[in-house]
Amino acid sequence: MSLPKDNKDSVSEPVKGLEGIVAADTTLSSVNGEKGILRYCGYNIDDLAFSSTFEETICLLYDNELPNQERLDEMTRKVGEARVLPDEVIKVITELVGKTSPMSTLRTVVSVLGHYEKNVPLKELPPKALRLVGQISTAVAIIHRLREKLPIIKADPTKGHSEDFLRMLHGKDPSDIQINALNLYLILLADHGFNASTFSARVTAGTLANLHSAITSAVGTLSGPLHGGANEKAMDMIIEVGKKKKASAYIQNAFDSKQKIMGFGHRVYKVDDARKPHLKKMAKQLWEEKGNMELFEVAEEIEKQVKDRKQIITNVDFYSAPLLYGLDIPKDLFTPLFAMSRIAGWTAHVLEQYRNNRLIRPRARYVGPIDRTFRPIEQR
Ligand code: CMC
Repeated sequence: MSLPKDNKDSVSEPVKGLEGIVAADTTLSSVNGEKGILRYCGYNIDDLAFSSTFEETICLLYDNELPNQERLDEMTRKVGEARVLPDEVIKVITELVGKTSPMSTLRTVVSVLGHYEKNVPLKELPPKALRLVGQISTAVAIIHRLREKLPIIKADPTKGHSEDFLRMLHGKDPSDIQINALNLYLILLADHGFNASTFSARVTAGTLANLHSAITSAVGTLSGPLHGGANEKAMDMIIEVGKKKKASAYIQNAFDSKQKIMGFGHRVYKVDDARKPHLKKMAKQLWEEKGNMELFEVAEEIEKQVKDRKQIITNVDFYSAPLLYGLDIPKDLFTPLFAMSRIAGWTAHVLEQYRNNRLIRPRARYVGPIDRTFRPIEQR
């Protein structure tokens, strides 16, 4: 059936994957893909990475300014107090663990948490958004504790976010290097322009649906292997390769069979991802502390083998994998940990969308047949 020339739904040529389309203004983060620069509210992440905290990043994204000590103390306290889940939500997690993935459980948890919140006017929304920042980390820790049949560890609001999360997850006090590593990870993944999950949060918020609906959309979008799910798959690959000498054959086979290599490639970056060198440096430090460099060296060799064959850049997910694994975080919690960081950016974007909202509603070009003759069912 050929397309008639007067097809009214023929708009313009679609831009597949919306590549290069600028969908809105933002003051939160900017990504220069040609030079490999990521800035939060004008600050280069190279300056933030090793000299600040996740709580400071939240202040920056929420206030568009770096905090003074008083504001930072207040933020640290508020996020700490938010690391509590209603008992009913813990019951929901208990029902789900072992039956579904941690990421699916987390998506459900965010949705359920919405039932415990009132609708509030926009000016009262930041505290509600902050509660979610705290609650998500506790949910990830509890998902892990319950499935391992370990007792739940209560949050300690006097501790920093990274330290308390690791303590709630592993049931023991983390070392300074572990706290620094998680802190760095949470800072670096907190925001990244209109990535797919942030965009989905903004699309949902753009309908004036509530905050928890928007974040539920974002968690679902992050879970896919072309986005946040790539970190877990990258670790699977590093473990499967196992030995440096096996990397060359593995990568050659992946290219020959046209497989996507997880943790490589990016829609925006033409040079290495701005976050990669920091994640790589920190992952190396963690494995040095463990006294076992084997997996880290396999990762480096995979990077080299990919680069030797094709100009495909290393993205954020590649060295996130050995960093998180070096923190003894199980692979299927990697993407929930990505959510634990990106929740800062998601919520800041939802607030930005509400402050200057217009429904996000692109068009599709209809390319199917038209003017078909309807025949009653008994004639089909
Ligand atoms: N492995 C092998 N080939 C690749 C890869 C890869 N990881 N990434 C891109 N390519 C090739 C691809 O095959 C294509 O080649 P050709 O033009 O010959 O067909 C070309 O590069 C362009 O790739 P694309 O898939 O059209 O690019 P895109 O902008 O649509 O996709 C991407 C970007 C990130 C989805 C893709 O690079 C990919 O699938 N990477 C692996 C998954 C991954 O690491 N995702 C994490 C992304 S960054 C963090 C995040 O957002 O969570």
